[in-house]
Amino acid sequence: MPALVLLGAQWGDEGKGKATDLLGGSVDYVVRYQGGNNAGHTVVVGDQKYALHLLPSGILSPGCTPVIGNGVVVDPSVLLSELSGLNERGVDTSKLLISGNAHIITPYNVTVDKVTERFLGKRKIGTTGRGIGPTYADKINRVGIRVQDLYDESILTQKVEAALDAKNQILTKLYNRRAIAVDQVVEELLGYAEQLAPYVADTVLVLNQALEEDKVVLFEGGQGTLLDIDHGTYPFVTSSNPTAGGACTGAGVGPTKISRVIGILKAYTTRVGSGPFPTELLDEDGEALRRIGGERGVTTGRDRRCGWFDAVIARYATRVNGLTDFFLTKLDVLTGWERIPVCVAYEIDGRRVEELPYSQTDFHHAKPVYEYLPGWQEDITKAKTFADLPKNAQDYVKALEEMSGAPISAIGVGPGRDETIEINSFI
Ligand code: GDP
Ligand code: IMO
Ligand code: MG
Repeated sequence: MPALVLLGAQWGDEGKGKATDLLGGSVDYVVRYQGGNNAGHTVVVGDQKYALHLLPSGILSPGCTPVIGNGVVVDPSVLLSELSGLNERGVDTSKLLISGNAHIITPYNVTVDKVTERFLGKRKIGTTGRGIGPTYADKINRVGIRVQDLYDESILTQKVEAALDAKNQILTKLYNRRAIAVDQVVEELLGYAEQLAPYVADTVLVLNQALEEDKVVLFEGGQGTLLDIDHGTYPFVTSSNPTAGGACTGAGVGPTKISRVIGILKAYTTRVGSGPFPTELLDEDGEALRRIGGERGVTTGRDRRCGWFDAVIARYATRVNGLTDFFLTKLDVLTGWERIPVCVAYEIDGRRVEELPYSQTDFHHAKPVYEYLPGWQEDITKAKTFADLPKNAQDYVKALEEMSGAPISAIGVGPGRDETIEINSFI
């Protein structure tokens, strides 16, 4: 039963898309289990670059069946335009399966996301504005709209009415916005039904049958461990569970089926949006990481905040996800520094702390305690084996592995599929 979870070990944008695409050629199914089009996964194949938001990165591997699981929130207009964009570029998307239980991001969820952020002012989360939080809120409040509702007009109308009842009161009375008409929303949603119909399936059954037949299933996380609603830097998080347990609930596969959990780990740290970030650099080193690493959001075009590697976070990711391996990405970006600081612990109000504090106040006060590792100047983008790396780069990887609590089984030295050093095979 080879089921693997691949997830972000930091605050997202670790290179999950590239890693998933790399494994896509050897797996039968790639499944998104949470999040929605807040994700931006860049995949580079030869001279072609793809930016995927909702579709699993396995869609670019012809033998692989891409699946959108029940835990995902789906904006139908984004999904359809992503599909047609890929079709125009010659990618076959006909194998896609979408869970009938996945929730739909409705136009009013997007509106609520935007007005809520505006009203939070300087306390805003810095969301992607894609309606993610309000859609998950509706799901938990039991007033959500699911993909299967598109196929029963009467039920759909009742559910949209129920959802808009309270929301229109809030929009008009609190936020000074116009009320949203039920009919208009129903009509728009029904307009997607026919185009989506060929993809809608009982994905829980399909995936469990596939595992029984010893097929290889890869679960591709969106966002990252520190953006998890339960285990992240709440409230500066997304509204789903990118951590490993999310793969079970978000796809309907039991934890006993998962054989490997791979944490994608950037050789430094980035974050988009608000919230604490102990190793953040507001100097020219931060600017250099942003420039060399191309750290600009795929979804929103926002500059990513950049900082040094944080081993406290990596250890935490190992723990809350039960990581079996790391895939270290973007090592090439660190070429050229004379010495590279690595955060090994925090200093919090005069105390040295080795593990991530559970208290939000403590985390906000955390100052990085750095160790300095010698850098390297050689171009490493052509390295194919660990031995091809300069000694100082090898030592940097070994030091990170020791601090982070799980073996580093692959190293990214460039954005392309073949710019990867494989140390232990994943499948
Ligand atoms: P994701 O959201 O985790 O899939 O990551 P993003 O795609 O948002 O951001 C990662 C960026 O780094 C993308 O532009 C990738 O093409 C790029 N990338 C991934 N791995 C590597 C690597 O090892 N080296 C370099 N230089 N770029 C990489
Ligand atoms: P990938 O999959 C980085 C961040 C947003 C914001 C917070 C909440 O590409 O790694 P949301 O719109 O989800 O309610 O925003 O989460 N965020 C991400 N940051 N990478 C992502 O996805 C993200 N998806 C959401 O910037 O701080
Ligand atoms: Mg991204």
